[in-house]
Amino acid sequence: MTQNLADTSRSTAAAPTAVTTAVANAGESRGWWREAVIYQVYPRSFADSNGDGMGDLPGIRSRLPYLRDLGVDAVWLSPFYASPQADAGYDVADYRAVDPMFGTLLDADALIRDAHELGLRIIVDLVPNHSSDAHEWFQRALREGPGSPLRERYHFLPGKGQNGELPPNDWESIFGGPAWTRTENPDGTPGDWYLHLFAPEQPDFNWENPAVADEFRSILRFWLDMGVDGFRIDVAHGMVKAPGLPDLGSHDQLKLLGSDVMPFFDQDGVHEIYRTWRRILDEYPGQRIGVAEAWTPTVARTANYVRPDELHQAFNFQYLGTHWDAGQLREVIDVSLDSMRPVGAPSTWVLSNHDVTRHATRFANPAGGTQIRTPGDRELGLRRARAASLLMLALPGSAYLYQGEELGLPDVTDLPDEVRQDPSFFRKAGQDGFRDGCRVPIPWSGTEAPYGFGPTPGGPSWLPQPASWAELSVEVQSGDPTSTLELYRSALAVRREHPALGAGTEVTWLDSPEGTLVFRRDSAEGSFVCTVNASAEPVRIATPGRIMLSSADAVGTSEPKDGAVDGWTVLAADSTSWWAV
Ligand code: NOJ
Repeated sequence: MTQNLADTSRSTAAAPTAVTTAVANAGESRGWWREAVIYQVYPRSFADSNGDGMGDLPGIRSRLPYLRDLGVDAVWLSPFYASPQADAGYDVADYRAVDPMFGTLLDADALIRDAHELGLRIIVDLVPNHSSDAHEWFQRALREGPGSPLRERYHFLPGKGQNGELPPNDWESIFGGPAWTRTENPDGTPGDWYLHLFAPEQPDFNWENPAVADEFRSILRFWLDMGVDGFRIDVAHGMVKAPGLPDLGSHDQLKLLGSDVMPFFDQDGVHEIYRTWRRILDEYPGQRIGVAEAWTPTVARTANYVRPDELHQAFNFQYLGTHWDAGQLREVIDVSLDSMRPVGAPSTWVLSNHDVTRHATRFANPAGGTQIRTPGDRELGLRRARAASLLMLALPGSAYLYQGEELGLPDVTDLPDEVRQDPSFFRKAGQDGFRDGCRVPIPWSGTEAPYGFGPTPGGPSWLPQPASWAELSVEVQSGDPTSTLELYRSALAVRREHPALGAGTEVTWLDSPEGTLVFRRDSAEGSFVCTVNASAEPVRIATPGRIMLSSADAVGTSEPKDGAVDGWTVLAADSTSWWAV
């Protein structure tokens, strides 16, 4: 099943090209990832080159100049591997092959090379907690029946009860229902059960089995040899399970995820895996990185994943889960910086991804978590989203953007049931199941769907786009100084230029009225102040410096007289501004 590049007469294990090395040298001295802005591409929904309604690698490749011009440093690609797509590609059947719906390995190779030529790094998704049930190992394990050594690579266990009719323990799937599915023996009789923390089509690997660890070391090398600059590690907290797979003793386990250490998540044993992987990453030139998708109860536990001999970054989901509230934002910023400082890793910041309601819609609604089903007050949501993005990009460390947020896209909350594909939608009772709303293909141009996502007006897209998205396309927003796209472009340009932005570990909070945040960042070459008004009313403050950028146009200032003493500024409601000092 593995595709290869043999027909090109090039070895997949070729030494890094000159281009790769050139990209790698940029920012090498201080660690490029310490301040990188990393843009998440969801391949199904970014750009469709062949008009089949599904995004693909050649489509992404054709849009790389857009990403370079936007001003990001790296691109993280969600999975494009061979997969039956039971969980939109997070069910991998072959870790060394590109799914035909996305292209070929040659397309992946061309994409990586083009990106490097444009000065963009490429991070690929690695899914080591589970495979697809279509993976060759799992299929053989089923075929060969009890006693097959392939079964040792997953968690196959006899059931409880008189006839093994009950699951081996009480663990629940994140997508709803039991985390176990019973197999049928090759002779047709009911057999053992296998563990799947997600969908039944995603059996969990048994990381106690050396063949699993060996295989993933080899997969890492395969993609590093292809030239990728790093890996986003899916369910990075999940691979190691507590010995004996003990019962949890309670139901509704999903609710405990944010607060307790579970026997299947965040076990200390995972860290040994990352120490091994770090040694492999460090063997390669150009600072290849690992990024943990680790849902842990606290940022302090997240910091364990980025100790100096482990991974480089971890997503800051506590930040993502914080509502638009000055007090809560200040607290999560402080806790994040304080937690990362002892391990020397950069804090990361993220507002949206392919698993949560887009922040323009979260902030349009009253506080209510990361899965929101109502459109809320769209104008309010956009205003806050723009302000939240400018705040995020002003913080010390690395920031993650999710495709389409630079267009201010809202979630699509009214997708008809028949087009939905999120597996948890069909299993109910688990994770909310409405993730398709943030996965709708993005609008590029034109007045008719798929708005340049695919080549033909009127052509298909795997999820329908709202008619209102014609007004939000890249084409419409480009060159309009009031657009969200131009706000992002300006912010990323200023972030690159200003010496006090980007990497760092400190912010200095300045006194400010209730409902606002004002912080300063200093460098030897200049200082920077960020003002945030998270309240619904305009707020007057002393002008902190020279305005560089603002998320709202209603910032009134009077010129500072004699050193800013008499200068004042009115911060618009729900706005963020950047100041040079
Ligand atoms: C996290 C991914 O982001 C999500 O999309 C996926 O469903 C689960 N991991 C399972 O792989």
